[in-house]
Amino acid sequence: MRILFIGDVFATPGLKAAQGFLKERRADYDFVVVNGENVAGGFGITRRHFEQLRAAGADVVTLGNHGFDQPGTAELLEESPRLLRPANYPPGTPGLGAHVFEARGGERVAVLQLMGRVYMEALDDPFRVADDVLEGLPAGVPVIVDFHAEATSEKKVMGFHLAGRVSAVVGTHTHVTTADECVYKGTAYITDVGMTGVQHSSIGMRFEEVHARFVDKLPRRFKPAEGPATLNAVEIELDGRRAVAVRRLRWEASRDEG
Ligand SMILES: [Fe+2]
Repeated sequence: MRILFIGDVFATPGLKAAQGFLKERRADYDFVVVNGENVAGGFGITRRHFEQLRAAGADVVTLGNHGFDQPGTAELLEESPRLLRPANYPPGTPGLGAHVFEARGGERVAVLQLMGRVYMEALDDPFRVADDVLEGLPAGVPVIVDFHAEATSEKKVMGFHLAGRVSAVVGTHTHVTTADECVYKGTAYITDVGMTGVQHSSIGMRFEEVHARFVDKLPRRFKPAEGPATLNAVEIELDGRRAVAVRRLRWEASRDEG
């Protein structure tokens, strides 16, 4: 099975890049996961954005620390298991953190999202929650994990924790692609897949306001960067539930798409 995992889609330029890429290449993949927690101008996701990503070919959209920034996300999560939020939110949080889906060709594949706790909001222990979720999933089904976390060490250790037990641990959130992709014990791993958005920016936002906030310390409203975006993704090849290859993929949207 060939899986595509698209990194954090940031604002309209990121959405256009994801749509442009999938229009050309969706048919190459059996299953597509997209992190969409920044698609609404950097802050969360709306129904329209979720539907646009689904129509473009995303099987599952994952969230993260900005997951609940837009009104209506809770209802959207309750309606569709194809929108996932981190599984280590407290019990009672709307929506699901993991679910089993059907890929093209009928094979089953599970997606699990977790959020880190180092330099982030303190949620439940993602390691323990991962163990609990895996215990509840049907045996033999490949599991793709989106670990939305800030600290490289926490992400690497999660890769170690889940090695041999899941098919892939893909890091998201920092918006900068790391060059450490590997397969270890049949588990594909990358610390961060990177952002799908305007790369000449402060991780998606225009430089000007972010620069001013660093330099003069006055509050500024950030604005998403404009222009053609770059898609960052990984392709993961599975043999049964074991990963056999992971490849970084970078694709530039044309001017028209920007
Ligand atoms: Fe994030």
